[in-house]
Amino acid sequence: MARGLEELGIEPGRALQELEAAILRQDAALDPPIEAAASPQALSTNETSALRNRDAFSRDAVYGRAPQVRQLRGGLDAIFTDRRVVFMIGGEAGIGKSRLADELARDARDRGARVVWGRCWEAGGAPAYWPWVQVLRSLLDGRGNVDLRAFGGAGGSSLLALIPEQRDASLTFTTPAAESEVARFRLFDAVAWVLRQAAAAQPLVIVLDDLHAADTPSLLLLQFLAGQLGDAPVMLAGLYRDDDVSENGALSACLASLAREQATQRMRLTGLGEVDTAVMIDAISGQHVAESVARAIHDETEGNPLFAGEIAACWRLRAHSIDR
Ligand SMILES: Nc1ncnc2c1ncn2[C@@H]1O[C@H](COP(=O)(O)OP(=O)(O)OP(=O)(O)O)[C@@H](O)[C@H]1O
Ligand SMILES: [Mg+2]
Repeated sequence: MARGLEELGIEPGRALQELEAAILRQDAALDPPIEAAASPQALSTNETSALRNRDAFSRDAVYGRAPQVRQLRGGLDAIFTDRRVVFMIGGEAGIGKSRLADELARDARDRGARVVWGRCWEAGGAPAYWPWVQVLRSLLDGRGNVDLRAFGGAGGSSLLALIPEQRDASLTFTTPAAESEVARFRLFDAVAWVLRQAAAAQPLVIVLDDLHAADTPSLLLLQFLAGQLGDAPVMLAGLYRDDDVSENGALSACLASLAREQATQRMRLTGLGEVDTAVMIDAISGQHVAESVARAIHDETEGNPLFAGEIAACWRLRAHSIDR
């Protein structure tokens, strides 16, 4: 578990480390009391019992996010009635932003929308506009209905500078001028055009993940689009870690600007509740974990699904090693 968290650059707390060590050394103190394991009534609430004693748990389910899923579905309703929507979804590392967006993407596809992703690259070295480059590549990959030939001029040139692989002999754009405010505006306008074209054929959901690592021009483009897409059926969903947004001037400014747009909805993910954490632990560990243990994990992880899930996975390993 600790390695999984380290890969994310997260230092597990002392209590979490001790809990992990206890699980790995199969500490008897963590064993469920026999009566608790056998008797659902031992659980604290009826709700807990009902939830935790379903016959089959799904390891693929999204736990404890029903209100957020509903809110996002409301956003999909909006784009299917020709309105643009912007969701800005914040929360700490591992809280489930990307998982929620996966759920949104699945719902959107089921309803006939097109979903494209742009992920920011945190390790450095990515070119400017990297998340948008990915979005444009997807939209202009030949499967879609966007023909760049219908859009000429300087904006198209700037666009092709981002995605040079789209150049072909039939496109006669000139080399873009050096970056200037005018050139940037043209580029933004060209991207808005591409999005509108794509959305005219099929409602469009664009997920921009890890925006805390976005370059400033990418955030400016997001702001531009949030205000300029008119009634195009486009949902822009931006995900970001909000631990230290205040130290990220570009992101703070972007959030403040987006907040002024009527189309924008902010969402902040916090830890799962105790019951949802317990259900998730049961699902991942493949067993009913004693209520006291589920509560300890919840308290220690504050319902962070990444942390709670890692512990549950340890638990599963432990159960297998006991079986063998
Ligand atoms: N509601 C949930 N139910 C079940 N599993 C979840 C839930 N939320 C998150 N997870 C799981 O927890 C882990 C972390 O979630 P996710 O990657 O979505 O976090 P994140 O907020 O995007 O983190 P980061 O800021 O590092 O990108 C993943 O394995 C994910 O599948
Ligand atoms: Mg994520």
